[in-house]
Amino acid sequence: MGNIQPRRLMTASGRSIVVRTALPEDADRVVAFVKEVAAEAPYLLTTEAEMAVTSEQQKQWLQQMIDGPGKLAIVAEQEGGIIGFLDFHNGNKQRTKHQGSFGMGVKKDFRGQGVGKALLAALLDWATEHPFIEKVCLEVVADNTNALRLYQTFGVAEEGVKKNAIKIDDKTYWDLIMMARFVK
Ligand SMILES: CC(C)(COP(=O)(O)OP(=O)(O)OC[C@H]1O[C@@H](n2cnc3c(N)ncnc32)[C@H](O)[C@@H]1OP(=O)(O)O)[C@@H](O)C(=O)NCCC(=O)NCCS
Repeated sequence: MGNIQPRRLMTASGRSIVVRTALPEDADRVVAFVKEVAAEAPYLLTTEAEMAVTSEQQKQWLQQMIDGPGKLAIVAEQEGGIIGFLDFHNGNKQRTKHQGSFGMGVKKDFRGQGVGKALLAALLDWATEHPFIEKVCLEVVADNTNALRLYQTFGVAEEGVKKNAIKIDDKTYWDLIMMARFVK
């Protein structure tokens, strides 16, 4: 179920990229990519140090994402290198399985060129065609204006704010904005 047809497209700077399902054999490269983004992107919920996962665990996780009926993990790839990643998980209960949340990241050098748009478009198309996914949700740090703009471009609407949901240090807290788009 967690599978899309590969899509080939051009970035704004004319580089050819492919958006496709993340496969178990991508495990090591996905871990390296996610750690790299975590190390430099300020507004992520998981820190680099918390991303301790073995190659085998990541392989199994990616296989579960393919097998899980309401899950999707996709990569954006350029010349064999991973430049973007998105994962979506639906609820694991009868009453929550119709909706789920996603997280995403794009390699720093490739931002602002449409890679995020391509990943999000692939997720929303998959969700729209999915037999039981009705709602796609996310949480974003209120100051993450680039991400907010991307989501607004796709009609993802704000549903509320979790005040001080993220604690950076004793004096610094961030609000989280809850957003969602209905796909049915
Ligand atoms: C958020 C993120 C995924 C966006 O990916 P991206 O590939 O840069 O986004 P795109 O190039 O597809 O841009 C899509 C839209 O987002 C907005 N946007 C993206 N980068 C922007 C920038 N540098 N300045 C202003 N707007 C920007 C624009 O509205 C843009 O639409 P437009 O091209 O029609 O103007 C990327 O910045 C990222 O990985 N950030 C670090 C990790 C992160 O914060 N993830 C989100 C957690 S909720």
